[in-house]
Amino acid sequence: MPHIAIISSSVRTGRNSHRVALYFKNYLETNALATTEILDLQAYNFPVFEERLRLFKNPTEAMLDFAGKIKSADGVLIVTPEYNGGYPASLKNVIDLLYEEWQRKPVAISTASDGIFGGSQVITSLQFSLWKIRAWTVPAMFPVPKVQEAFDIAGNPTDQAATDKRAARFIGELLWCVEAKKRMVGA
Ligand SMILES: Cc1cc2nc3c(=O)[nH]c(=O)nc-3n(C[C@H](O)[C@H](O)[C@H](O)COP(=O)(O)O)c2cc1C
Repeated sequence: MPHIAIISSSVRTGRNSHRVALYFKNYLETNALATTEILDLQAYNFPVFEERLRLFKNPTEAMLDFAGKIKSADGVLIVTPEYNGGYPASLKNVIDLLYEEWQRKPVAISTASDGIFGGSQVITSLQFSLWKIRAWTVPAMFPVPKVQEAFDIAGNPTDQAATDKRAARFIGELLWCVEAKKRMVGA
């Protein structure tokens, strides 16, 4: 079974997009599609990094832990809010920390906002940064409009059937890329 690392990007007090990360963890595990772990950037509580990991003289355990979890995951699912049309600094901070860990990594992006557009303006800038760092961005979207109404605090969707149907298509694309990579490298 593949292992999917889910990055929960918002470090904001009272954040809502974390609900989406909880939903995907539950969806993937309940349907026996993948093992998962949420890499919670609020819990990591990283400082703004002054250098990339490979050039750090004394990286912290937390930095090495994060890097190891990205490297060993078969795929990554990023859940990100939209802040002023972009993705949060907390997420850029950890993207730029790493390099080879991202390479050819299947990465799917789910965006969230409290408005009606579901954070969809984030997609182009985040995809571009991930492309630059040579990740394999999965061509599927999972925007979540009015995230505070779409999921409860435990990640249960208000409309389970419709949300699961949408998730099946989105996750299907991510797992297709994970499987394709596995066959290519013969792992
Ligand atoms: C600094 C900041 C900027 C924001 N900019 C936008 C925005 O451009 N578009 C939008 O739809 N929502 C915006 N929001 C509201 C978020 O969509 C809202 O906080 C939502 O719950 C997702 O973020 P969260 O996970 O941090 O809660 C912004 C919120 C913050 C804190």
